Amino acid sequence: MSVVLRSIASYIPQNRVDNQALAATLDTSDEWIRSHTGIGARHIADDGVLTSDMAAEAARAALAKAKITPHDLDLIVVATATPDYFGFPATACVVQEKIGAFGCTAFDVVAGCSGFLYALDIASSMLEARHGRHAIVIGAEQLSRVTDWQDRSTAVLFGDGAGAAVISRIDEGGRGCLAFMLGADGGGARDLYLEQAPRTSAYERATPIVPKIVMDGKKVYDFAVKSITVLIERIMHATAYRLEDFSWIIPHQANARIIQAAGKRFGIPPEKFYLNIDEYANTSSASIPLALAEMDAKGLLKPGDLIMLLGFGAGLTYGAAVIRW
Ligand code: ACO
Repeated sequence: MSVVLRSIASYIPQNRVDNQALAATLDTSDEWIRSHTGIGARHIADDGVLTSDMAAEAARAALAKAKITPHDLDLIVVATATPDYFGFPATACVVQEKIGAFGCTAFDVVAGCSGFLYALDIASSMLEARHGRHAIVIGAEQLSRVTDWQDRSTAVLFGDGAGAAVISRIDEGGRGCLAFMLGADGGGARDLYLEQAPRTSAYERATPIVPKIVMDGKKVYDFAVKSITVLIERIMHATAYRLEDFSWIIPHQANARIIQAAGKRFGIPPEKFYLNIDEYANTSSASIPLALAEMDAKGLLKPGDLIMLLGFGAGLTYGAAVIRW
């Protein structure tokens, strides 16, 4: 028995905001954004749409593709940094109610842009440890809600969306999640954070909370390039696979330049990396499942393909997974 990624689906808001539209209200340009990040557009959730709505849409589509019902689920894990409610209840519980999966375990994982990989490792480990059958792992973000739209250094980077994967503990000869590697460097917690907590002084507590993303771009950039290279080295060492064994490397879509810089260090051809940041920008924990869903829809993932997923983000956290498709 192994834990197989059985289906993958996504929800992308229809409202597409390209760089030119941003440049109409912000001191920036399409040329600057493309050359510094590889981003051409982002999709923004409509008013009234919550993270759980996008997560539930992606989950329904993934369940239909896997041909199982919500009642078959043992577990729902939602990775998100932009939950419906900050603190509680978990967005996974709201999603459970929306998709009608009553009674199963449901909780959120907060690990920044590595969230989907953390959630996937936890869910597959729980299925194995508890002899469960099916789980749904969702990465869902509404970063537009916590973006400071006056701050050009961050406003151009992020987008909204959700991706969901049904994973099942079944016997399918060699397929499945083969290895995970997760890590964190809390020393970089203040390099990328949501300005809302902890508030340790009376002065801070008296100030209303307006959550917004605060980032030291250069530190995050350096951390991201370093963590990708270290992860690739460590996961290949742990699994004894070589780079040429992998059909695809699917990184968290933070910045095309980060991926290019990491690829150069190993001499990895750029076409080995799947990138769709041009269309969706950085959707944090949704970015890896969004990329997988798009690749699946395009028929790019063939049964038996070996793929590597790479994540890095707030925390600072990082993670990798090796999956036989
Ligand atoms: N449009 C135009 N000019 C801009 C913009 C913008 N949107 N943003 C910054 N600038 C200006 C700056 O003000 C600065 O001007 P100055 O030289 O007159 O002072 C100039 O551009 C250069 O700014 P830098 O910050 O040095 O630009 P840099 O080349 O470092 O690129 C960037 C900034 C793209 C944010 C880069 O640091 C980066 O990619 N960092 C990683 C960000 C990231 O990926 N974050 C998320 C990852 S983790 C996660 O996903 C949660």
